[in-house]
Amino acid sequence: MPLVAIIVAMTRDRVIGSGKDLPWHLPEDLQLFKRLTMGGTIIMGHKTHASIGHPLPGRHNIVLSRSQEELPGVQLCKSFVTGLTSAAQLGRPVFVIGGEELYRKALPIASELHISWVKETVTGDVHFPEFDLADWAIFEDEDHQGFHYRHYKRKESK
Ligand SMILES: NC(=O)c1ccc[n+]([C@@H]2O[C@H](COP(=O)([O-])OP(=O)(O)OC[C@H]3O[C@@H](n4cnc5c(N)ncnc54)[C@H](OP(=O)(O)O)[C@@H]3O)[C@@H](O)[C@H]2O)c1
Repeated sequence: MPLVAIIVAMTRDRVIGSGKDLPWHLPEDLQLFKRLTMGGTIIMGHKTHASIGHPLPGRHNIVLSRSQEELPGVQLCKSFVTGLTSAAQLGRPVFVIGGEELYRKALPIASELHISWVKETVTGDVHFPEFDLADWAIFEDEDHQGFHYRHYKRKESK
């Protein structure tokens, strides 16, 4: 099993999306996302891939789908476990980049969280799963225009 990091932008109410889309426009967060994930392997759900509309360059794109047989420019996997196994073989940093369904799968096994806490209050119908911040230690902390970035590492279990 590779070390898995989750990368997500969310509000304090854990809103991550509205319908198919991100309900905010935060160019600095897109830059941060690019900087953190560049060169790595990114794992995403089919709906997130469809919403981005193309493979993200400079990263190995793994898309999970049970319904698709082929998608151009990405590696398609039929289950989370096969996605993780394929990612492990590449030996690059692994990031789960959404959406909600994928975050639910990845949260129990993730060792790091990169969270952009969106400052604005936004309504949306897609949420990050509930989790306890007490289980996570802050490793990096940066203030940005429109969001606050925190990098967490899972605390050692006692
Ligand atoms: N704020 C953020 O950082 C952020 C990041 C990413 C996405 N988002 C938002 O999240 C929303 C999309 O999230 P979502 O939960 O609706 O969709 P999603 O997780 O992106 O994709 C769900 C789809 O992925 C496939 N899938 C999921 N789990 C699978 C598994 N274990 N095995 C095989 N295939 C699997 C299925 O595709 P098939 O139906 O093809 O089988 C499923 O319908 C959008 O609003 C998007 O903007 C937000």
